[in-house]
Amino acid sequence: MGLSVEFAQQFSPYIAIMIHRNIRKAVIPVAGYGTRFLPASKAQPKEMFLVVDKPTIQYVVEEAVAAGIQDILMIISKGKRAIEEHFDPNRELEAELEHAGRTLELEEIRRISSMANIHYVWQRELNGLGDAVSYAKHHVGDEAFALLLGDTIVESNTPVTRQLIDIHQRYGESVVAFEQVALDKVSRYGIMKGRLIEDGLYHIEDLVEKPAPESAPSNLAIAGRYLLTPDIFPSLENIPQGKNNEIQLTDALRMLLQQKPIYGLHFEGDRYDIGNKLDFLKTNVIFGLRHAELGAEFRQFLRLLSDTGPDE
Ligand code: UTP
Repeated sequence: MGLSVEFAQQFSPYIAIMIHRNIRKAVIPVAGYGTRFLPASKAQPKEMFLVVDKPTIQYVVEEAVAAGIQDILMIISKGKRAIEEHFDPNRELEAELEHAGRTLELEEIRRISSMANIHYVWQRELNGLGDAVSYAKHHVGDEAFALLLGDTIVESNTPVTRQLIDIHQRYGESVVAFEQVALDKVSRYGIMKGRLIEDGLYHIEDLVEKPAPESAPSNLAIAGRYLLTPDIFPSLENIPQGKNNEIQLTDALRMLLQQKPIYGLHFEGDRYDIGNKLDFLKTNVIFGLRHAELGAEFRQFLRLLSDTGPDE
């Protein structure tokens, strides 16, 4: 059914804004060395590490797709081919599964390679997250885009990327996702100084990299999901190398803050960082316990293990 003329006349400015602020593209950097996870990450991308039965990067792509995005740009580097292969169709495997009548596996394999249009660009030298993002400039052009770290899973009722898009559609500026962390852990993260403007939403005043607990302006930490306007690219070009001699995205956001408002969303959901060993283990236990097929038996196993210890 078409829109009535009156409706279109009354709401057309708003419809135009919504269309203009429609987010079509996501960028997922997956080029990093993953030094915190050596030696496992030496010859395998950490983004391909399994969380129960799916590689981490698949959860990330599924989040972007669930948020309504089909066009994905991955920033890759040497040694990350397995990621491309995971999302490329494998016709021989499909024929084999078809021949064997393994319909469920066949459907799943086909779903993975058809859920999004994935493009790849190489980060020539690994100069940090900000540098990785700058390689997206040509692909995203003058559109705002979602940025999802490829080694971080976020679970939430509404995909966190969708939550960020919704804020961007209302305010038209960049939005960064934040999670609450324990005060004794703030020194590991980029922390927000901000002014609460509505439930869970802040006007960011500053971003402080790895503050000591006593000087931290809050315990809200940058959580690996962003909705960025293309204004980020000139900032990325103009900032000097920061910590570890890398181009830091947080530094570029701080520069952008001088010119434009940036919003911070204390999102609803849980973040899992696969890039460090302990959180990787915890994530596998949590997702294992929740798994539809394996959860019940895994829970029994853990109970037994906690009663008797690993040697029994
Ligand atoms: P991290 O901050 O975890 O950095 O990157 P890293 O270099 O991969 O890992 P460590 O600190 O040495 O253990 C967050 C995301 O950004 C990507 C990573 O692949 C990861 O998905 N990244 C990081 C790049 O694409 N390029 C870079 O230069 C750095």
